[in-house]
Amino acid sequence: TGLFTYDPGFTSTAACDSAITYIDGDKGELLYRGYPIDQLADNSSYIEVCYLLLYGELPSKADLRDFENRVTRHTMVHEQMHYFYRGFRRDAHPMAIVTGVVGAMAAFYHDSTDISDPEQREIASIRMIAKLPTIVAMAYKYSVGQPFVYPRNDLDYASNFLHMCFAVPAEEYKVDPVVARAMDRIFTLHADHEQNASTSTVRLSGSSDANPFACIAAGVACLWGPAHGGANEAALNMLRQIGTVDRIPEFIARAKDKNDPFRLMGFGHRVYKNYDPRAAVMQESAREVLDLLGVENNPTLQVAQELEKIALEDPYFVERKLYPNVDFYSGIILDAIGFPTSMFTAIFALSRTVGWIAQWKEMIGDPQKKIGRPRQLYNGATKRDYVDISAR
Ligand code: CMC
Repeated sequence: TGLFTYDPGFTSTAACDSAITYIDGDKGELLYRGYPIDQLADNSSYIEVCYLLLYGELPSKADLRDFENRVTRHTMVHEQMHYFYRGFRRDAHPMAIVTGVVGAMAAFYHDSTDISDPEQREIASIRMIAKLPTIVAMAYKYSVGQPFVYPRNDLDYASNFLHMCFAVPAEEYKVDPVVARAMDRIFTLHADHEQNASTSTVRLSGSSDANPFACIAAGVACLWGPAHGGANEAALNMLRQIGTVDRIPEFIARAKDKNDPFRLMGFGHRVYKNYDPRAAVMQESAREVLDLLGVENNPTLQVAQELEKIALEDPYFVERKLYPNVDFYSGIILDAIGFPTSMFTAIFALSRTVGWIAQWKEMIGDPQKKIGRPRQLYNGATKRDYVDISAR
């Protein structure tokens, strides 16, 4: 009609103002509240990053302690939520379970759903940050047929998550600090990424003043797709499918062939037209973890490094500015830690929860807030008269 701007995929439409995360895709720069991601990954902790994303500043020692206390107070889920898990098939995808259980939180926490009340918004936010690791770990335990492990509030955020996933009754489980650090870094690197598909989904859902838990469930659902959060699972599956370095050229050729739907998973990004700064940190972490666990000759890492080298020199990838993204190396770390690929995207979801919440809170508190309502260019049938079924 000429009345609307047509922008499929929102490649050039800003849908909001935001002060949370900044990306310079050409430089390959990512800042949370102004702080470079590599500095945060090296020096900070995920819980501190959560505070930063939510409240805009790094916390003082006292603020951090208080925030940690507020989070740990809410790490357990309602005992009745355990029944949800039992209703799923054992082989259900963890993302199917997490989508359902996060949505179901809306049925339990009625005292944190009046979004016009900032205090209720705050409790809803803290509850989600606190409970997502428990919910994701329970999905894992259910899939392997082991009893659920309750959270341990004396442990830091990442160690507690690893404990809930890998501790078994009557056996001592000690979280290795190098592994906990790698886990914590994975959380930090995934914590927010401005207006990506799942965050935009959370904002759009929230724009109708919907229940906050339901909005985050919508974000989880969107994240699941292989073009988004599902890429970490797809990337490791691809590296395994390639298997050995000598098979790389065959897969590079397939990725370049426009008649073949195959893409190099973990490669390319809508915004980064340079090396994804998260991938650089992730690659370093992958080496650390593999060194520690004694799998430095890991064939998957070898395939990943060689594939990256070949792709970065190939004119097809160079011209299109396709670089490894965050998901290219995260799967190698998660695999080395002991997670099955089906858990990768669920771990991404738990890491991204704080970003979704920070963005949701920012939107709800925005005096300019309006319900999200994109327009369309209609290209269907023109007006016509109903035809009775006997005449069709
Ligand atoms: N392998 C081969 N070719 C690719 C790839 C790839 N991974 N990614 C993009 N291209 C090509 C694409 O075919 C197109 O070529 P041409 O111009 O000749 O038609 C060109 O590069 C531009 O691609 P596009 O699909 O228009 O770009 P987009 O911005 O719409 O898509 C993307 C971005 C991330 C969906 C895409 O690069 C992709 O599918 N990558 C693989 C999946 C992936 O790793 N996703 C994770 C993204 S980072 C984490 C997250 O956000 O969750």
